[in-house]
Amino acid sequence: MSRGVALILPLLAFLVFLLSLVGATDDSEKRVMSVERMGKTYPKPHFVLVHGYTGGAWSWYKIRCLLETYGYKVTCLDLKGAGIDNTDSTTIHTFDAYNQPLINFFVNNLSDNEKVILVGHSAGGLSVTDASHKFSKKIQVVIYVAATMLKHGFVTELDKRDGIPNSTTGGNKSDGNMSRLHMSPQEDVVLASMLSRPVPFEVFPQARFRGDGAEHVRRVYIKTKYDQILKPEQQDAMIKKWPPAPSDVYVLDTDHNPLFSDPFALSGLLVKVATSIE
Ligand SMILES: *[C@@H]1O[C@H](CO)[C@@H](O)[C@H](O)[C@H]1NC(C)=O
Ligand SMILES: *[C@@H]1O[C@H](CO)[C@@H](O)[C@H](O)[C@H]1NC(C)=O
Ligand SMILES: *[C@@H]1O[C@H](CO)[C@@H](O)[C@H](O)[C@H]1NC(C)=O
Ligand SMILES: *[C@@H]1O[C@H](CO)[C@@H](O)[C@H](O)[C@H]1NC(C)=O
Repeated sequence: MSRGVALILPLLAFLVFLLSLVGATDDSEKRVMSVERMGKTYPKPHFVLVHGYTGGAWSWYKIRCLLETYGYKVTCLDLKGAGIDNTDSTTIHTFDAYNQPLINFFVNNLSDNEKVILVGHSAGGLSVTDASHKFSKKIQVVIYVAATMLKHGFVTELDKRDGIPNSTTGGNKSDGNMSRLHMSPQEDVVLASMLSRPVPFEVFPQARFRGDGAEHVRRVYIKTKYDQILKPEQQDAMIKKWPPAPSDVYVLDTDHNPLFSDPFALSGLLVKVATSIE
Protein backbone atom coordinates (compact mmCIF):
# COMPACT_ATOMS: atom_id res chain seq x y z
CA MET A 1 0.00 0.00 0.00
CA SER A 2 2.70 2.49 1.00
CA ARG A 3 4.32 1.80 -2.34
CA GLY A 4 1.12 2.71 -4.20
CA VAL A 5 0.83 5.88 -2.16
CA ALA A 6 4.47 6.70 -2.83
CA LEU A 7 3.78 6.45 -6.54
CA ILE A 8 0.52 8.36 -6.49
CA LEU A 9 1.54 11.29 -4.29
CA PRO A 10 4.09 12.86 -6.67
CA LEU A 11 1.59 12.38 -9.50
CA LEU A 12 -1.10 14.18 -7.51
CA ALA A 13 1.29 16.96 -6.58
CA PHE A 14 2.16 17.39 -10.25
CA LEU A 15 -1.51 17.48 -11.25
CA VAL A 16 -2.22 20.11 -8.62
CA PHE A 17 0.74 22.08 -9.96
CA LEU A 18 -0.59 21.86 -13.52
CA LEU A 19 -4.05 22.91 -12.37
CA SER A 20 -2.60 25.86 -10.49
CA LEU A 21 -0.84 26.96 -13.67
CA VAL A 22 -4.06 26.73 -15.67
CA GLY A 23 -5.76 28.77 -12.97
CA ALA A 24 -3.00 31.35 -13.11
CA THR A 25 -3.39 31.77 -16.87
CA ASP A 26 -7.16 32.01 -16.71
CA ASP A 27 -7.45 34.79 -14.21
CA SER A 28 -4.01 36.24 -13.82
CA GLU A 29 -5.54 39.60 -12.83
CA LYS A 30 -6.82 37.95 -9.70
CA ARG A 31 -3.31 37.05 -8.51
CA VAL A 32 -2.65 38.48 -5.10
CA MET A 33 -0.04 41.15 -5.68
CA SER A 34 -0.40 42.83 -2.31
CA VAL A 35 -0.96 41.90 1.30
CA GLU A 36 -3.34 43.60 3.65
CA ARG A 37 -2.33 44.01 7.26
CA MET A 38 -3.91 46.22 9.93
CA GLY A 39 -5.96 48.00 7.28
CA LYS A 40 -2.89 48.97 5.23
CA THR A 41 -1.92 47.41 1.93
CA TYR A 42 1.68 46.37 1.30
CA PRO A 43 3.04 45.17 -2.03
CA LYS A 44 4.06 41.51 -2.07
CA PRO A 45 7.82 41.04 -1.88
CA HIS A 46 9.91 41.32 -5.01
CA PHE A 47 12.40 38.49 -5.57
CA VAL A 48 15.63 39.15 -7.45
CA LEU A 49 17.29 35.88 -8.47
CA VAL A 50 21.00 35.68 -9.31
CA HIS A 51 22.54 32.68 -11.11
CA GLY A 52 25.92 31.00 -10.56
CA TYR A 53 28.84 29.90 -12.83
CA THR A 54 27.75 29.16 -16.42
CA GLY A 55 24.12 29.89 -15.56
CA GLY A 56 21.87 32.76 -16.54
CA ALA A 57 18.45 34.23 -15.86
CA TRP A 58 17.17 31.05 -17.52
CA SER A 59 18.53 28.91 -14.65
CA TRP A 60 15.53 30.05 -12.59
CA TYR A 61 12.78 29.19 -15.07
CA LYS A 62 11.02 26.73 -12.75
CA ILE A 63 11.39 28.87 -9.64
CA ARG A 64 10.20 31.96 -11.48
CA CYS A 65 7.12 30.14 -12.70
CA LEU A 66 6.25 28.93 -9.19
CA LEU A 67 6.89 32.26 -7.44
CA GLU A 68 4.85 34.16 -10.02
CA THR A 69 2.04 31.69 -9.60
CA TYR A 70 2.06 32.54 -5.88
CA GLY A 71 1.73 36.23 -6.86
CA TYR A 72 5.27 37.47 -6.27
CA LYS A 73 7.12 39.87 -8.51
CA VAL A 74 10.25 38.15 -9.83
CA THR A 75 13.32 39.54 -11.57
CA CYS A 76 15.96 37.18 -12.97
CA LEU A 77 19.07 38.80 -14.36
CA ASP A 78 21.96 37.79 -16.55
CA LEU A 79 25.33 38.82 -15.19
CA LYS A 80 27.92 40.02 -17.71
CA GLY A 81 28.56 37.48 -20.45
CA ALA A 82 25.85 35.13 -19.13
CA GLY A 83 22.56 34.02 -20.64
CA ILE A 84 21.55 36.41 -23.40
CA ASP A 85 23.92 39.21 -22.38
CA ASN A 86 26.00 39.52 -25.53
CA THR A 87 29.33 40.44 -23.92
CA ASP A 88 32.22 38.17 -24.96
CA SER A 89 33.42 36.58 -21.70
CA THR A 90 37.09 36.91 -22.76
CA THR A 91 36.68 40.70 -22.43
CA ILE A 92 35.59 40.48 -18.76
CA HIS A 93 38.59 40.78 -16.46
CA THR A 94 37.26 41.89 -13.09
CA PHE A 95 34.61 40.71 -10.70
CA ASP A 96 33.14 44.24 -10.68
CA ALA A 97 32.67 44.12 -14.44
CA TYR A 98 31.06 40.69 -14.19
CA ASN A 99 28.68 41.83 -11.44
CA GLN A 100 27.82 45.19 -13.05
CA PRO A 101 24.33 44.15 -14.25
CA LEU A 102 23.24 43.46 -10.65
CA ILE A 103 24.70 46.74 -9.39
CA ASN A 104 23.05 48.62 -12.28
CA PHE A 105 19.75 47.03 -11.43
CA PHE A 106 19.93 48.39 -7.86
CA VAL A 107 20.95 51.84 -9.10
CA ASN A 108 18.52 52.17 -12.04
CA ASN A 109 15.59 49.82 -11.66
CA LEU A 110 14.35 50.24 -8.10
CA SER A 111 12.33 53.17 -6.85
CA ASP A 112 13.59 54.98 -3.74
CA ASN A 113 11.58 53.01 -1.20
CA GLU A 114 11.50 49.69 -2.99
CA LYS A 115 13.14 46.74 -1.23
CA VAL A 116 13.81 43.27 -2.56
CA ILE A 117 14.52 39.74 -1.45
CA LEU A 118 17.85 38.91 -3.06
CA VAL A 119 18.64 35.27 -3.81
CA GLY A 120 21.99 33.92 -5.02
CA HIS A 121 22.74 30.40 -6.22
CA SER A 122 26.28 28.95 -6.13
CA ALA A 123 28.80 31.60 -7.23
CA GLY A 124 25.84 34.01 -7.28
CA GLY A 125 26.55 34.17 -3.53
CA LEU A 126 29.50 36.45 -4.29
CA SER A 127 27.26 38.71 -6.37
CA VAL A 128 24.57 39.04 -3.69
CA THR A 129 27.15 39.67 -0.96
CA ASP A 130 28.66 42.47 -3.05
CA ALA A 131 25.18 43.99 -3.52
CA SER A 132 24.28 43.66 0.15
CA HIS A 133 27.41 45.62 1.14
CA LYS A 134 26.46 48.37 -1.31
CA PHE A 135 22.66 48.47 -1.01
CA SER A 136 21.85 47.17 2.46
CA LYS A 137 18.89 49.55 2.78
CA LYS A 138 17.27 48.13 -0.35
CA ILE A 139 17.44 44.48 0.70
CA GLN A 140 14.97 42.90 3.12
CA VAL A 141 16.76 39.59 3.27
CA VAL A 142 19.46 37.87 1.26
CA ILE A 143 19.10 34.14 0.64
CA TYR A 144 22.08 31.94 -0.24
CA VAL A 145 21.22 28.71 -2.06
CA ALA A 146 24.21 26.33 -2.04
CA ALA A 147 26.10 29.56 -2.45
CA THR A 148 29.46 31.05 -1.59
CA MET A 149 28.87 33.18 1.52
CA LEU A 150 32.02 35.04 2.56
CA LYS A 151 31.63 38.43 4.20
CA HIS A 152 34.64 39.99 2.49
CA GLY A 153 34.99 37.62 -0.45
CA PHE A 154 38.23 35.68 -0.95
CA VAL A 155 40.70 37.16 1.50
CA THR A 156 42.52 34.10 2.85
CA GLU A 157 43.45 30.67 1.49
CA LEU A 158 40.86 29.26 3.86
CA ASP A 159 38.18 31.39 2.19
CA LYS A 160 39.11 29.79 -1.13
CA ARG A 161 39.02 26.29 0.31
CA ASP A 162 35.56 26.94 1.74
CA GLY A 163 34.04 28.94 -1.09
CA ILE A 164 35.40 27.53 -4.36
CA PRO A 165 34.20 24.21 -5.73
CA ASN A 166 36.98 21.67 -5.34
CA SER A 167 38.01 20.65 -8.84
CA THR A 168 39.62 17.39 -7.71
CA THR A 169 36.23 16.28 -6.45
CA GLY A 170 34.45 17.22 -9.64
CA GLY A 171 33.58 20.81 -8.93
CA ASN A 172 35.18 22.54 -11.90
CA LYS A 173 32.24 23.64 -13.95
CA SER A 174 34.23 25.95 -16.21
CA ASP A 175 34.24 23.12 -18.74
CA GLY A 176 30.46 23.05 -18.57
CA ASN A 177 30.59 19.67 -16.84
CA MET A 178 27.19 19.17 -15.30
CA SER A 179 27.68 15.51 -14.43
CA ARG A 180 27.60 16.32 -10.72
CA LEU A 181 23.96 17.43 -10.95
CA HIS A 182 23.15 13.82 -10.27
CA MET A 183 19.65 14.43 -8.90
CA SER A 184 18.48 16.88 -11.55
CA PRO A 185 16.22 15.79 -14.41
CA GLN A 186 18.21 14.80 -17.47
CA GLU A 187 16.27 17.32 -19.60
CA ASP A 188 17.54 20.15 -17.39
CA VAL A 189 21.11 18.89 -17.56
CA VAL A 190 20.79 18.84 -21.35
CA LEU A 191 19.20 22.31 -21.34
CA ALA A 192 22.05 23.60 -19.18
CA SER A 193 24.64 22.10 -21.52
CA MET A 194 22.94 23.89 -24.44
CA LEU A 195 22.61 27.28 -22.75
CA SER A 196 25.77 27.51 -20.63
CA ARG A 197 28.18 30.22 -21.69
CA PRO A 198 31.95 30.26 -21.13
CA VAL A 199 32.65 31.96 -17.81
CA PRO A 200 35.47 34.39 -17.07
CA PHE A 201 36.75 31.92 -14.49
CA GLU A 202 39.58 34.11 -13.24
CA VAL A 203 37.28 36.89 -11.99
CA PHE A 204 35.78 34.84 -9.15
CA PRO A 205 38.83 34.40 -6.91
CA GLN A 206 39.37 38.19 -7.18
CA ALA A 207 36.04 38.95 -5.50
CA ARG A 208 36.75 41.14 -2.42
CA PHE A 209 34.28 43.29 -0.56
CA ARG A 210 35.04 46.16 1.80
CA GLY A 211 33.03 47.51 4.68
CA ASP A 212 30.35 46.09 6.89
CA GLY A 213 27.20 47.05 4.98
CA ALA A 214 26.18 43.42 4.62
CA GLU A 215 26.06 43.10 8.42
CA HIS A 216 22.83 45.10 8.36
CA VAL A 217 21.03 42.62 6.15
CA ARG A 218 19.30 39.48 7.41
CA ARG A 219 20.85 36.37 5.82
CA VAL A 220 19.28 32.99 5.18
CA TYR A 221 21.32 29.95 4.09
CA ILE A 222 19.77 27.00 2.24
CA LYS A 223 22.17 24.05 2.31
CA THR A 224 22.14 21.22 -0.21
CA LYS A 225 22.78 17.90 1.49
CA TYR A 226 23.96 15.84 -1.50
CA ASP A 227 25.98 18.57 -3.15
CA GLN A 228 29.01 17.25 -5.06
CA ILE A 229 30.08 20.67 -6.26
CA LEU A 230 30.05 23.03 -3.26
CA LYS A 231 30.31 20.32 -0.61
CA PRO A 232 28.19 20.33 2.57
CA GLU A 233 31.46 20.63 4.56
CA GLN A 234 32.31 23.79 2.65
CA GLN A 235 28.81 25.21 3.18
CA ASP A 236 29.02 24.41 6.91
CA ALA A 237 32.43 26.04 7.21
CA MET A 238 31.10 29.28 5.68
CA ILE A 239 28.01 29.23 7.91
CA LYS A 240 30.25 28.75 10.96
CA LYS A 241 32.49 31.63 9.96
CA TRP A 242 29.68 34.10 9.26
CA PRO A 243 26.58 32.64 10.88
CA PRO A 244 23.03 33.64 10.00
CA ALA A 245 20.49 33.28 12.83
CA PRO A 246 20.20 29.53 13.58
CA SER A 247 16.52 29.61 12.57
CA ASP A 248 17.59 30.99 9.20
CA VAL A 249 19.56 27.92 8.14
CA TYR A 250 17.68 25.28 6.11
CA VAL A 251 18.67 22.04 4.38
CA LEU A 252 17.34 20.57 1.16
CA ASP A 253 17.89 16.88 0.30
CA THR A 254 19.25 17.73 -3.13
CA ASP A 255 22.31 18.04 -5.33
CA HIS A 256 23.93 21.41 -6.05
CA ASN A 257 21.02 22.60 -8.16
CA PRO A 258 17.64 22.48 -6.37
CA LEU A 259 16.52 25.03 -9.01
CA PHE A 260 16.29 21.96 -11.23
CA SER A 261 16.18 19.02 -8.86
CA ASP A 262 13.56 20.19 -6.34
CA PRO A 263 11.93 23.45 -7.43
CA PHE A 264 8.88 22.79 -5.23
CA ALA A 265 10.89 22.47 -2.02
CA LEU A 266 13.13 25.40 -2.92
CA SER A 267 10.29 27.74 -3.85
CA GLY A 268 8.46 26.60 -0.70
CA LEU A 269 11.40 27.79 1.41
CA LEU A 270 11.64 31.07 -0.51
CA VAL A 271 7.94 31.68 0.11
CA LYS A 272 8.38 30.77 3.78
CA VAL A 273 11.08 33.41 4.15
CA ALA A 274 8.99 35.96 2.20
CA THR A 275 6.00 35.27 4.43
CA SER A 276 8.12 35.94 7.51
CA ILE A 277 8.62 39.56 6.38
CA GLU A 278 5.27 40.24 4.71
C1 LIG B 1 15.95 47.87 -15.89
O1 LIG B 1 15.31 48.97 -16.51
C2 LIG B 1 15.60 49.07 -17.91
C3 LIG B 1 15.01 50.37 -18.41
O2 LIG B 1 13.65 50.45 -18.09
C4 LIG B 1 15.02 47.85 -18.63
O3 LIG B 1 15.31 47.91 -20.01
C5 LIG B 1 15.66 46.60 -18.03
O4 LIG B 1 15.10 45.45 -18.61
C6 LIG B 1 15.48 46.56 -16.53
N1 LIG B 1 16.28 45.46 -16.00
C7 LIG B 1 15.76 44.47 -15.30
C8 LIG B 1 16.70 43.39 -14.90
O5 LIG B 1 14.59 44.42 -14.97
C1 LIG C 1 39.80 18.73 -2.54
O1 LIG C 1 39.29 17.50 -2.09
C2 LIG C 1 40.29 16.53 -1.85
C3 LIG C 1 39.59 15.23 -1.54
O2 LIG C 1 38.56 15.40 -0.58
C4 LIG C 1 41.19 17.03 -0.73
O3 LIG C 1 42.21 16.09 -0.47
C5 LIG C 1 41.83 18.35 -1.15
O4 LIG C 1 42.59 18.88 -0.09
C6 LIG C 1 40.75 19.35 -1.54
N1 LIG C 1 41.37 20.54 -2.10
C7 LIG C 1 41.12 21.75 -1.65
C8 LIG C 1 41.79 22.87 -2.37
O5 LIG C 1 40.38 21.95 -0.70
C1 LIG D 1 38.89 23.95 -14.85
O1 LIG D 1 38.78 23.38 -16.15
C2 LIG D 1 39.28 24.21 -17.17
C3 LIG D 1 38.96 23.57 -18.51
O2 LIG D 1 39.04 22.17 -18.45
C4 LIG D 1 40.80 24.41 -16.92
O3 LIG D 1 41.33 25.24 -17.92
C5 LIG D 1 40.98 25.09 -15.56
O4 LIG D 1 42.36 25.21 -15.26
C6 LIG D 1 40.33 24.26 -14.47
N1 LIG D 1 40.38 25.04 -13.22
C7 LIG D 1 40.70 24.49 -12.06
C8 LIG D 1 40.68 25.39 -10.86
O5 LIG D 1 40.98 23.30 -11.93
C1 LIG E 1 32.55 15.32 -16.69
O1 LIG E 1 33.05 14.69 -15.53
C2 LIG E 1 32.97 13.30 -15.58
C3 LIG E 1 33.38 12.75 -14.21
O2 LIG E 1 34.45 13.48 -13.67
C4 LIG E 1 33.84 12.78 -16.73
O3 LIG E 1 33.75 11.38 -16.81
C5 LIG E 1 33.35 13.40 -18.05
O4 LIG E 1 34.20 13.02 -19.11
C6 LIG E 1 33.30 14.90 -17.96
N1 LIG E 1 32.66 15.46 -19.13
C7 LIG E 1 33.15 16.52 -19.79
C8 LIG E 1 32.35 16.98 -20.96
O5 LIG E 1 34.17 17.08 -19.46
